Amino acid sequence: MKKKILKVLRNTDDYISGQELCEFFGVSRTAVWKCINQLKEEGYCIDSVNKKGYKIISYPDILTESEIATRLNTRWIGKNIKSFNEIDSTNNEAKRFAENGGINGDLIVSEVQTNGKGRRGRNWISPKGTGIWFTLLLKPDIRTENVSMITLVIGMAVAKAVNSLYDLKVSIKWPNDVIVNSKKITGILTEMSTELDYINYVVVGVGINVNIENFEDEIKDKATSLKIELGHNVNRAELLAKILEIFEDYYEIFLETENLVNLKSEYNRILINVGQDVKIIQSNEEKIRKAIGINERGELLVEDENQNIEKIISGEVSVRGLYGYV
Ligand code: BTN
Repeated sequence: MKKKILKVLRNTDDYISGQELCEFFGVSRTAVWKCINQLKEEGYCIDSVNKKGYKIISYPDILTESEIATRLNTRWIGKNIKSFNEIDSTNNEAKRFAENGGINGDLIVSEVQTNGKGRRGRNWISPKGTGIWFTLLLKPDIRTENVSMITLVIGMAVAKAVNSLYDLKVSIKWPNDVIVNSKKITGILTEMSTELDYINYVVVGVGINVNIENFEDEIKDKATSLKIELGHNVNRAELLAKILEIFEDYYEIFLETENLVNLKSEYNRILINVGQDVKIIQSNEEKIRKAIGINERGELLVEDENQNIEKIISGEVSVRGLYGYV
Protein backbone atom coordinates (compact mmCIF):
# COMPACT_ATOMS: atom_id res chain seq x y z
CA MET A 1 0.00 0.00 0.00
CA LYS A 2 2.81 2.40 0.92
CA LYS A 3 4.39 1.85 -2.50
CA LYS A 4 1.06 2.50 -4.26
CA ILE A 5 0.43 5.71 -2.34
CA LEU A 6 3.99 6.87 -3.00
CA LYS A 7 3.54 6.25 -6.71
CA VAL A 8 0.33 8.30 -6.86
CA LEU A 9 1.86 11.15 -4.85
CA ARG A 10 5.01 11.11 -7.03
CA ASN A 11 2.96 11.33 -10.20
CA THR A 12 0.55 14.03 -9.02
CA ASP A 13 1.66 17.64 -9.24
CA ASP A 14 -1.13 19.02 -7.07
CA TYR A 15 -2.40 18.04 -3.62
CA ILE A 16 -4.34 14.81 -3.46
CA SER A 17 -6.91 14.34 -0.72
CA GLY A 18 -6.91 11.52 1.81
CA GLN A 19 -10.47 10.76 0.71
CA GLU A 20 -9.39 10.30 -2.92
CA LEU A 21 -6.57 7.97 -1.84
CA CYS A 22 -9.00 5.94 0.34
CA GLU A 23 -11.49 5.57 -2.50
CA PHE A 24 -8.84 4.84 -5.09
CA PHE A 25 -7.27 2.00 -3.11
CA GLY A 26 -10.39 0.92 -1.18
CA VAL A 27 -8.75 1.36 2.23
CA SER A 28 -9.58 3.30 5.39
CA ARG A 29 -8.41 6.83 6.19
CA THR A 30 -6.36 5.42 9.05
CA ALA A 31 -4.54 3.09 6.64
CA VAL A 32 -3.69 6.04 4.36
CA TRP A 33 -2.61 8.16 7.34
CA LYS A 34 -0.34 5.34 8.58
CA CYS A 35 1.35 5.06 5.19
CA ILE A 36 1.87 8.82 5.02
CA ASN A 37 3.49 8.72 8.45
CA GLN A 38 5.76 5.85 7.44
CA LEU A 39 6.86 7.81 4.38
CA LYS A 40 7.57 10.86 6.56
CA GLU A 41 9.66 8.68 8.87
CA GLU A 42 11.67 7.50 5.88
CA GLY A 43 12.51 11.12 5.07
CA TYR A 44 9.83 12.15 2.54
CA CYS A 45 8.82 15.72 3.21
CA ILE A 46 5.03 15.65 2.76
CA ASP A 47 2.90 18.72 3.10
CA SER A 48 -0.60 18.05 4.44
CA VAL A 49 -3.13 20.84 4.13
CA ASN A 50 -6.64 20.76 5.54
CA LYS A 51 -9.29 20.14 2.84
CA LYS A 52 -6.61 19.88 0.12
CA GLY A 53 -4.72 16.76 1.13
CA TYR A 54 -1.12 15.63 0.65
CA LYS A 55 1.73 16.65 -1.61
CA ILE A 56 5.37 15.54 -1.61
CA ILE A 57 7.70 18.51 -1.28
CA SER A 58 11.01 16.65 -1.34
CA TYR A 59 12.34 13.12 -1.65
CA PRO A 60 15.01 11.51 0.54
CA ASP A 61 18.12 10.05 -1.06
CA ILE A 62 17.38 6.44 -0.12
CA LEU A 63 17.49 3.15 -2.00
CA THR A 64 14.42 1.44 -0.53
CA GLU A 65 12.30 -0.93 -2.56
CA SER A 66 9.45 1.60 -2.79
CA GLU A 67 11.70 4.54 -3.72
CA ILE A 68 13.28 2.57 -6.56
CA ALA A 69 10.12 0.76 -7.72
CA THR A 70 8.04 3.94 -7.96
CA ARG A 71 10.65 5.50 -10.23
CA LEU A 72 11.23 2.48 -12.43
CA ASN A 73 9.84 2.22 -15.96
CA THR A 74 11.05 -1.20 -17.01
CA ARG A 75 9.33 -4.18 -18.58
CA TRP A 76 10.98 -6.94 -16.53
CA ILE A 77 14.06 -5.69 -14.73
CA GLY A 78 13.57 -4.95 -11.04
CA LYS A 79 10.14 -6.52 -10.71
CA ASN A 80 11.61 -7.93 -7.48
CA ILE A 81 13.81 -5.55 -5.53
CA LYS A 82 15.71 -6.63 -2.42
CA SER A 83 17.02 -3.60 -0.62
CA PHE A 84 19.38 -3.89 2.37
CA ASN A 85 20.77 -1.43 4.87
CA GLU A 86 23.89 -3.55 5.07
CA ILE A 87 25.13 -6.65 3.27
CA ASP A 88 28.50 -8.33 2.74
CA SER A 89 28.35 -7.96 -1.04
CA THR A 90 25.33 -7.52 -3.31
CA ASN A 91 26.97 -10.02 -5.70
CA ASN A 92 27.13 -12.62 -2.92
CA GLU A 93 23.53 -11.91 -1.95
CA ALA A 94 22.41 -12.18 -5.60
CA LYS A 95 24.09 -15.60 -5.79
CA ARG A 96 22.38 -16.74 -2.60
CA PHE A 97 19.12 -15.41 -3.98
CA ALA A 98 19.68 -17.20 -7.30
CA GLU A 99 20.13 -20.49 -5.45
CA ASN A 100 16.85 -19.89 -3.59
CA GLY A 101 14.33 -19.08 -6.28
CA GLY A 102 15.53 -15.69 -7.53
CA ILE A 103 14.42 -14.94 -11.08
CA ASN A 104 15.72 -13.15 -14.16
CA GLY A 105 15.84 -9.39 -13.59
CA ASP A 106 15.89 -9.43 -9.78
CA LEU A 107 17.67 -6.45 -8.27
CA ILE A 108 19.75 -6.51 -5.09
CA VAL A 109 20.87 -3.19 -3.65
CA SER A 110 22.46 -2.13 -0.37
CA GLU A 111 23.26 1.14 1.40
CA VAL A 112 26.61 -0.28 2.49
CA GLN A 113 28.70 -3.35 1.65
CA THR A 114 30.96 -4.75 4.37
CA ASN A 115 32.87 -6.94 1.93
CA GLY A 116 32.41 -5.28 -1.47
CA LYS A 117 34.32 -7.20 -4.14
CA GLY A 118 36.29 -5.77 -7.02
CA ARG A 119 37.89 -7.52 -9.97
CA ARG A 120 40.95 -9.71 -9.55
CA GLY A 121 40.19 -10.41 -5.89
CA ARG A 122 40.45 -6.76 -4.89
CA ASN A 123 38.18 -5.01 -2.38
CA TRP A 124 35.62 -2.49 -3.50
CA ILE A 125 35.20 0.30 -0.98
CA SER A 126 31.44 0.75 -0.53
CA PRO A 127 30.69 3.37 2.13
CA LYS A 128 27.22 3.88 3.57
CA GLY A 129 24.67 5.96 1.73
CA THR A 130 27.03 7.60 -0.75
CA GLY A 131 27.17 5.13 -3.60
CA ILE A 132 24.97 2.82 -5.59
CA TRP A 133 26.04 -0.75 -4.88
CA PHE A 134 23.76 -3.08 -6.80
CA THR A 135 23.62 -6.43 -8.56
CA LEU A 136 21.28 -7.72 -11.23
CA LEU A 137 20.46 -11.39 -11.41
CA LEU A 138 20.18 -12.54 -15.03
CA LYS A 139 19.35 -15.91 -16.50
CA PRO A 140 20.25 -15.55 -20.16
CA ASP A 141 19.78 -18.39 -22.60
CA ILE A 142 23.08 -17.78 -24.38
CA ARG A 143 26.42 -19.50 -24.89
CA THR A 144 28.80 -19.22 -21.92
CA GLU A 145 31.55 -17.64 -24.01
CA ASN A 146 29.24 -14.69 -24.73
CA VAL A 147 28.57 -13.75 -21.11
CA SER A 148 31.56 -11.42 -20.73
CA MET A 149 29.97 -9.03 -23.24
CA ILE A 150 27.17 -8.29 -20.75
CA THR A 151 29.77 -6.38 -18.73
CA LEU A 152 30.34 -4.02 -21.63
CA VAL A 153 26.59 -3.63 -22.10
CA ILE A 154 26.01 -2.53 -18.49
CA GLY A 155 29.01 -0.19 -18.70
CA MET A 156 27.42 1.49 -21.71
CA ALA A 157 24.11 1.79 -19.84
CA VAL A 158 25.79 3.50 -16.86
CA ALA A 159 27.66 5.88 -19.17
CA LYS A 160 24.52 6.78 -21.10
CA ALA A 161 22.45 7.28 -17.93
CA VAL A 162 25.06 9.56 -16.35
CA ASN A 163 25.40 11.46 -19.59
CA SER A 164 21.66 11.96 -19.96
CA LEU A 165 21.05 13.15 -16.38
CA TYR A 166 24.06 15.38 -15.71
CA ASP A 167 26.18 17.85 -17.57
CA LEU A 168 29.31 15.67 -17.65
CA LYS A 169 31.42 14.15 -20.39
CA VAL A 170 31.40 10.42 -19.75
CA SER A 171 33.65 7.86 -21.43
CA ILE A 172 34.42 4.18 -21.14
CA LYS A 173 37.86 2.77 -20.55
CA TRP A 174 37.88 -0.66 -22.15
CA PRO A 175 36.38 -2.97 -21.21
CA ASN A 176 34.00 -1.44 -18.67
CA ASP A 177 35.32 1.32 -16.42
CA VAL A 178 33.10 4.39 -16.64
CA ILE A 179 35.29 7.48 -16.65
CA VAL A 180 34.67 11.15 -15.90
CA ASN A 181 37.56 13.60 -16.10
CA SER A 182 40.13 10.79 -16.55
CA LYS A 183 39.02 9.05 -13.33
CA LYS A 184 36.83 6.06 -12.62
CA ILE A 185 33.30 6.50 -11.22
CA THR A 186 32.07 2.95 -11.77
CA GLY A 187 33.36 -0.59 -11.48
CA ILE A 188 31.61 -3.72 -12.71
CA LEU A 189 32.05 -7.30 -11.56
CA THR A 190 30.24 -10.03 -13.48
CA GLU A 191 30.18 -13.56 -12.08
CA MET A 192 28.37 -16.65 -13.27
CA SER A 193 27.37 -20.16 -12.34
CA THR A 194 27.45 -22.71 -15.14
CA GLU A 195 27.07 -26.41 -15.73
CA LEU A 196 29.15 -27.66 -18.64
CA ASP A 197 27.70 -25.45 -21.35
CA TYR A 198 24.54 -24.36 -19.54
CA ILE A 199 24.24 -21.06 -17.65
CA ASN A 200 22.47 -21.32 -14.31
CA TYR A 201 22.71 -17.60 -13.72
CA VAL A 202 24.83 -14.51 -14.16
CA VAL A 203 25.19 -11.78 -11.55
CA VAL A 204 26.20 -8.34 -12.77
CA GLY A 205 27.46 -6.18 -9.91
CA VAL A 206 27.85 -2.45 -10.35
CA GLY A 207 29.42 0.04 -7.97
CA ILE A 208 28.95 3.75 -8.65
CA ASN A 209 30.72 6.44 -6.66
CA VAL A 210 27.90 8.94 -6.34
CA ASN A 211 28.08 11.27 -3.33
CA ILE A 212 31.48 10.24 -1.98
CA GLU A 213 33.45 13.36 -1.00
CA ASN A 214 36.98 11.99 -0.78
CA PHE A 215 38.97 8.87 -1.50
CA GLU A 216 41.84 7.18 0.30
CA ASP A 217 45.30 8.24 -0.86
CA GLU A 218 45.82 4.87 -2.50
CA ILE A 219 43.06 5.38 -5.07
CA LYS A 220 42.47 9.10 -5.24
CA ASP A 221 44.45 9.56 -8.44
CA LYS A 222 42.26 7.01 -10.19
CA ALA A 223 38.83 7.35 -8.57
CA THR A 224 36.26 10.12 -8.50
CA SER A 225 32.57 10.56 -7.74
CA LEU A 226 29.68 12.36 -9.37
CA LYS A 227 29.54 14.77 -6.43
CA ILE A 228 33.21 15.69 -6.78
CA GLU A 229 32.79 16.29 -10.51
CA LEU A 230 29.44 18.10 -10.33
CA GLY A 231 29.90 19.97 -7.08
CA HIS A 232 26.53 18.83 -5.73
CA ASN A 233 24.72 15.75 -4.46
CA VAL A 234 22.93 13.42 -6.83
CA ASN A 235 19.73 11.47 -6.15
CA ARG A 236 20.79 7.83 -6.29
CA ALA A 237 17.39 6.23 -6.94
CA GLU A 238 16.82 8.48 -9.95
CA LEU A 239 20.17 7.46 -11.44
CA LEU A 240 19.66 3.78 -10.67
CA ALA A 241 16.22 3.75 -12.33
CA LYS A 242 17.66 5.43 -15.43
CA ILE A 243 20.52 2.90 -15.65
CA LEU A 244 18.14 -0.06 -15.40
CA GLU A 245 15.81 1.33 -18.06
CA ILE A 246 18.67 1.88 -20.50
CA PHE A 247 20.29 -1.46 -19.67
CA GLU A 248 17.03 -3.32 -20.37
CA ASP A 249 16.95 -1.93 -23.93
CA TYR A 250 20.65 -2.53 -24.62
CA TYR A 251 20.55 -6.03 -23.12
CA GLU A 252 17.63 -7.04 -25.33
CA ILE A 253 19.55 -5.79 -28.37
CA PHE A 254 22.55 -7.87 -27.22
CA LEU A 255 20.42 -10.99 -26.70
CA GLU A 256 19.09 -10.86 -30.28
CA THR A 257 22.53 -11.56 -31.73
CA GLU A 258 24.51 -12.67 -28.63
CA ASN A 259 27.13 -10.13 -29.63
CA LEU A 260 27.69 -6.40 -29.82
CA VAL A 261 27.22 -5.98 -33.57
CA ASN A 262 24.33 -3.55 -33.04
CA LEU A 263 25.88 -1.75 -30.07
CA LYS A 264 29.56 -1.42 -30.96
CA SER A 265 29.35 1.87 -32.86
CA GLU A 266 27.67 3.50 -29.84
CA TYR A 267 30.29 1.94 -27.54
CA ASN A 268 33.16 3.09 -29.74
CA ARG A 269 31.79 6.66 -29.76
CA ILE A 270 32.38 6.93 -26.01
CA LEU A 271 35.47 4.72 -25.80
CA ILE A 272 38.42 6.65 -24.43
CA ASN A 273 41.78 6.69 -26.24
CA VAL A 274 40.41 5.76 -29.67
CA GLY A 275 43.04 6.64 -32.27
CA GLN A 276 45.66 7.07 -29.54
CA ASP A 277 48.53 4.97 -28.29
CA VAL A 278 47.82 2.86 -25.21
CA LYS A 279 49.97 0.64 -23.04
CA ILE A 280 48.95 -3.00 -23.06
CA ILE A 281 50.11 -4.83 -19.96
CA GLN A 282 50.07 -8.63 -19.98
CA SER A 283 51.83 -10.68 -17.28
CA ASN A 284 54.41 -7.93 -16.66
CA GLU A 285 55.09 -7.45 -20.36
CA GLU A 286 54.23 -4.08 -21.84
CA LYS A 287 53.68 -3.02 -25.42
CA ILE A 288 52.41 0.14 -27.02
CA ARG A 289 49.71 0.00 -29.67
CA LYS A 290 47.16 2.36 -31.20
CA ALA A 291 43.61 1.68 -29.96
CA ILE A 292 41.05 1.40 -32.76
CA GLY A 293 37.83 0.33 -31.04
CA ILE A 294 35.96 -2.85 -30.14
CA ASN A 295 34.75 -5.50 -32.55
CA GLU A 296 31.38 -7.26 -32.33
CA ARG A 297 32.74 -9.59 -29.62
CA GLY A 298 33.83 -6.72 -27.40
CA GLU A 299 37.52 -7.37 -28.02
CA LEU A 300 39.74 -4.31 -28.29
CA LEU A 301 41.33 -3.90 -31.69
CA VAL A 302 44.79 -2.35 -31.64
CA GLU A 303 47.28 -1.58 -34.41
CA ASP A 304 51.09 -1.75 -34.41
CA GLU A 305 53.40 0.57 -36.35
CA ASN A 306 53.09 -1.69 -39.44
CA GLN A 307 49.29 -1.42 -39.39
CA ASN A 308 48.92 -5.02 -38.23
CA ILE A 309 45.68 -5.37 -36.27
CA GLU A 310 45.59 -7.43 -33.11
CA LYS A 311 42.63 -8.39 -30.89
CA ILE A 312 42.95 -7.88 -27.15
CA ILE A 313 40.74 -10.11 -25.04
CA SER A 314 39.46 -8.79 -21.74
CA GLY A 315 40.42 -10.55 -18.53
CA GLU A 316 43.90 -11.30 -19.80
CA VAL A 317 45.33 -7.81 -19.97
CA SER A 318 45.21 -4.29 -18.58
CA VAL A 319 45.10 -1.31 -20.87
CA ARG A 320 46.45 2.05 -19.67
CA GLY A 321 47.03 5.46 -21.15
CA LEU A 322 50.64 6.29 -21.88
CA TYR A 323 50.89 8.69 -18.95
CA GLY A 324 48.59 7.21 -16.33
CA TYR A 325 45.34 5.42 -15.73
CA VAL A 326 43.54 6.51 -18.93
C1 BTN B 1 36.06 -3.35 -10.20
O1 BTN B 1 37.03 -3.84 -9.60
O2 BTN B 1 36.20 -2.38 -10.94
C2 BTN B 1 34.71 -3.96 -10.01
C3 BTN B 1 33.97 -3.39 -8.82
C4 BTN B 1 32.55 -3.91 -8.66
C5 BTN B 1 31.88 -3.39 -7.42
C6 BTN B 1 30.43 -3.75 -7.33
S1 BTN B 1 29.61 -2.93 -6.01
C7 BTN B 1 28.21 -3.92 -6.20
C8 BTN B 1 28.69 -5.32 -6.51
N1 BTN B 1 28.93 -6.07 -5.30
C9 BTN B 1 30.23 -6.33 -5.11
O3 BTN B 1 30.70 -6.95 -4.13
N2 BTN B 1 30.95 -5.86 -6.14
C10 BTN B 1 30.10 -5.22 -7.14
